[in-house]
Amino acid sequence: MTARLKLAVQKKGRLAEGGFDLLRRAGVKLAYARDELTRRAENLPLDLMLIRDDDIPNFVASGACEFGIVGENVLKEAAARSPRIAGLETVMALGFAKCALKLAAPKDGPVRALADLQGRAVATTYPGLTEAFLSARGITAEIVEMGGSVEVAPRMNIADAICDLVSTGATLEANGLTAFETVLESEAVLVRAPGARAPEIEETAALLSERFTGVIASRQTKYIMLNAPTARLDEIRAALPGADAPTVAPVVGRDDVVAVHAVCTEEVFWHTLEALKAAGARSILVLPIEKMMP
Ligand code: PRP
Ligand code: ZN
Repeated sequence: MTARLKLAVQKKGRLAEGGFDLLRRAGVKLAYARDELTRRAENLPLDLMLIRDDDIPNFVASGACEFGIVGENVLKEAAARSPRIAGLETVMALGFAKCALKLAAPKDGPVRALADLQGRAVATTYPGLTEAFLSARGITAEIVEMGGSVEVAPRMNIADAICDLVSTGATLEANGLTAFETVLESEAVLVRAPGARAPEIEETAALLSERFTGVIASRQTKYIMLNAPTARLDEIRAALPGADAPTVAPVVGRDDVVAVHAVCTEEVFWHTLEALKAAGARSILVLPIEKMMP
């Protein structure tokens, strides 16, 4: 029997949806399970462990799971406290669950910039990162560690400012707070424990990494097809974002026009299409790419 790779993922929360979506796109079919803790893949030697995001670094560092999908915010906070977690290897950034850890304070209050925090109190669920950020900048502040609902701390006079995650900014807005400094930009990452690993899982590990890379690459990569006036081909090629070797083919019955097909590895915006059209391109089609393998 082949050994099964164990991957720790967030059970529910900001990472869960993106994580399951990534696995689905990578072709992982999950068996239905009553078990709250594990989900078995039907078509690969892979088992998911569904746990709280804060526990994921520990599960991987201890070897209970070989891999984990976790937010950099959670990973770096845990790493600030534990050398064993600081030793985890980040295999790749996964491009979802983007957010930022920010310092914020009441809109019309006395704290408007980093220097104003000197001698004041900052409430946070990220004491390790907050303390390291402030002390690296010569600020001595009292760190008030909270378990959640950090945004209420200034209003309740528990602290003068907060250091909390911001994604849409709605929470800050609703609580009359303004961000004035970014401590960390974060997204979901794939981590693994460094050092010796069971050779039986290496094949699955390599396959997963390669498929994840393919899914991430295909997300913003698009296939563009258009007709270009032969005389303006160079101009049109230059306007194709991140396409190094487009295919140029004849158009039946036309000497003055060629068909151009290209894989664009950078985002294709509306203004990209407008620039192509201005350069004489016609019949422009932009198609999503479902899968990619170099
Ligand atoms: C974070 C943070 C805010 C909210 C910010 O909480 O503590 O409450 O998200 O998001 P917004 O900018 O879109 O309003 P999270 O969802 O991580 O929950 P938790 O702090 O309870 O783990
Ligand atoms: Zn959490």
